[in-house]
Amino acid sequence: MAIHPRITGGRRQQLPLPLKRALLAAITVATALSILCILSFTDTLTFTDTLSFLGFRPRDVDKRDGNRRYLYWGSRVDCPGKHCGSCAGLGHQESSLRCALEEALFLDRVLVMPAKMCLNSVHNTKGVLQSSNATSQQRWETGSCAMESLYDIDLISRTVPVILDNPRSWYEIISRSTKLGEDGLVVHVRGVSRAELKQNSNYSGALLINRTASPLAWFMECKDRTKRSSVMLPYTFLPTMATRKLRDAANKMKEILGDYDAIHVRRGDLLKNRKDRFGVERSLHPHLDRDTRPEFIKKRIAKWIRPGRTLFIASNERTPGFFSSLSDKYRLAYSSNFSSILNPIIENNYQLFMVERLIMQGARTFVKTMKEFDKDLALCDDPKKNTKDWQEPVYTDD
Ligand SMILES: *[C@@H]1O[C@H](CO)[C@@H](O)[C@H](O)[C@H]1NC(C)=O
Ligand SMILES: *[C@@H]1O[C@H](CO)[C@@H](O)[C@H](O)[C@H]1NC(C)=O
Ligand SMILES: *[C@@H]1O[C@H](CO)[C@@H](O)[C@H](O)[C@H]1NC(C)=O
Ligand SMILES: *[C@@H]1O[C@H](CO)[C@@H](O)[C@H](O)[C@H]1NC(C)=O
Repeated sequence: MAIHPRITGGRRQQLPLPLKRALLAAITVATALSILCILSFTDTLTFTDTLSFLGFRPRDVDKRDGNRRYLYWGSRVDCPGKHCGSCAGLGHQESSLRCALEEALFLDRVLVMPAKMCLNSVHNTKGVLQSSNATSQQRWETGSCAMESLYDIDLISRTVPVILDNPRSWYEIISRSTKLGEDGLVVHVRGVSRAELKQNSNYSGALLINRTASPLAWFMECKDRTKRSSVMLPYTFLPTMATRKLRDAANKMKEILGDYDAIHVRRGDLLKNRKDRFGVERSLHPHLDRDTRPEFIKKRIAKWIRPGRTLFIASNERTPGFFSSLSDKYRLAYSSNFSSILNPIIENNYQLFMVERLIMQGARTFVKTMKEFDKDLALCDDPKKNTKDWQEPVYTDD
């Protein structure tokens, strides 16, 4: 590699990083370390240097790094002031996180992303991997998990630069703010539209925009998603950003499965019935319990998936052998068939679900529990979004 003349000029901090690396490689480890320490805490460092120090590869970071500005939505996705126990599941939290990421993209800012993800115990029952011995009472003993255990932060940063909400990031932001030394570098906003944040110089000039997002759920800030033009990240974005460990596991499993189809059968969490004042059972999804039973699944999917195919079943149903009767038509596979791949790496249900999602994405034919988009195949025709209309469950053929 050609050495740039500037090296001899002693202006080390302005070197492009590959050169700096080459230089470091050429000298002893002890010297390298001491230079790294000096470099890392010198004011003249660029933001790229700091990001690379924090573990980011410099090529992933925008070249206008010196002007990088930040957006912060809070320390937790979706559960402002609440305990993790009352948070919604991963899908909900991802809708919210995606909303914040889209705003960062729109404002051309680095998102200071929560370092942890809440894990509601309702969505964290154990047993999928030990289906022969599972009880619905066994749960992973944790209320949250590290964001990095779910997502590949570097990979996300290639699309939307993000840093994690931790002391190191704040140290960097605060030291930049003191260096700039002006008032109004941090603005606290609530209910201000993203267009206003971009256009109004009172906001756009701030080093850090601290948004207090909707106390209901962050995704409420993205209500205009129905306008196609406002959608900047596809629904598949976060699912495909799974951390390498999880992606590798999914790839191994897909290879073993070969040519396969998949169904996602949501039961437990969605089968919430309640009794009305006459003691009659009511459900928000009256056909769901029926339609997610194997005999109904078999009838329903027959027109999409022909007999003899390998069928991967992702489900939160914990009754052992619940889907076994499908095996007279299909070669069934579950995550539990891959416990030797999964047991060493899976620590909670969100991680497991992320692996299962990648498997479902790779299926030739994929049937969801309920329809979300027009072209979806689904097991049940009940509307997915229903929060009010409680009806009597139906168990007979219509
Ligand atoms: C199954 O449950 C029994 C009793 O609770 C326990 O001793 C055993 O270790 C469990 N086996 C597995 C594979 O989890
Ligand atoms: C910015 O803030 C100042 C002081 O609050 C206000 O007078 C001014 O109108 C604001 N500018 C814009 C563009 O809103
Ligand atoms: C952001 O704003 C909230 C609410 O005003 C405040 O509690 C929090 O400390 C602020 N965070 C930062 C990093 O400024
Ligand atoms: C998966 O495990 C079940 C038993 O739990 C077994 O019946 C089935 O054949 C296995 N599938 C594959 C593809 O190995």
